[in-house]
Amino acid sequence: MSLYDKIRQTTAFIQPKISNKPRVGIILGSGLGGLVDIIEKETSIPYSDIPNFPVSTVQGHSGQLIFGRIGNCNVMLMAGRFHYYEGYSMEEVTFPVRIMKALGVETVVISNASGGTNPAFNIGDLMIIKDHINLCPEHPLRGPNDERLGTRFPDMSQAYDHDLINMAKAISEEQGIGVRTGVYIGLQGPTFETPAEYRMLHVIGGDAVGMSTVAEVIVARHAQMRVFAISVITDIGISDIPITITHEEVLEAANAAAPKMAGLVAALVKRL
Ligand code: HPA
Repeated sequence: MSLYDKIRQTTAFIQPKISNKPRVGIILGSGLGGLVDIIEKETSIPYSDIPNFPVSTVQGHSGQLIFGRIGNCNVMLMAGRFHYYEGYSMEEVTFPVRIMKALGVETVVISNASGGTNPAFNIGDLMIIKDHINLCPEHPLRGPNDERLGTRFPDMSQAYDHDLINMAKAISEEQGIGVRTGVYIGLQGPTFETPAEYRMLHVIGGDAVGMSTVAEVIVARHAQMRVFAISVITDIGISDIPITITHEEVLEAANAAAPKMAGLVAALVKRL
């Protein structure tokens, strides 16, 4: 079945289960579940029930699509995302973003946990993503282009919407939470980087590195949705002494920053 037909099939399955068209689609990263408690839930659908959806395999990613409201805004939220390192193709990783578009979403809000490659950053910092460098080995748009889904050569000059970035900065000031702005580099994982790799990633212009987000952003832009993305810095790769990084530490740091992140994202969504 073509990607287009899969999208139609999955949309036809979901549509009768929801009463409102979602305007904002939210993707939650590892340990960043805080928003799940803020959203007024209407419907939850486990990924395992949804035709054509892959099933998430990572600890800390629960795997359901939640429909509901944040303030007056109808949202759909992915609690748990798909990663390339799990073995999915980039088309599978980004399939839920296609479904967001098909259901009516105009703005996608993405969160993730990432490693700081900017030595000025601290663990627990929030970083608004202003741009990315795509170092993933597979591109989500590789292959024949279906013009019904988007153009062959999408522009990436403003992948991260400037108005949304400015709104988020204003909100962070109102809420008295510090926020960084920086460039996110997407790699395939699942290894964390070597000290030499963290240094290189900083030299080439990265402030943070992670294993998600970039493919989702590319597909969201292909589908002409606006994007806002924000990262929690869960570890700092740049160091004079060798530091070990574990998934548990990443989740712990993400969990600690989750309320701050959830407060900022909720306030942003309410203004959309
Ligand atoms: N590197 C890659 N991905 C990550 C990191 C990291 O240091 N921290 C959280 N996700």
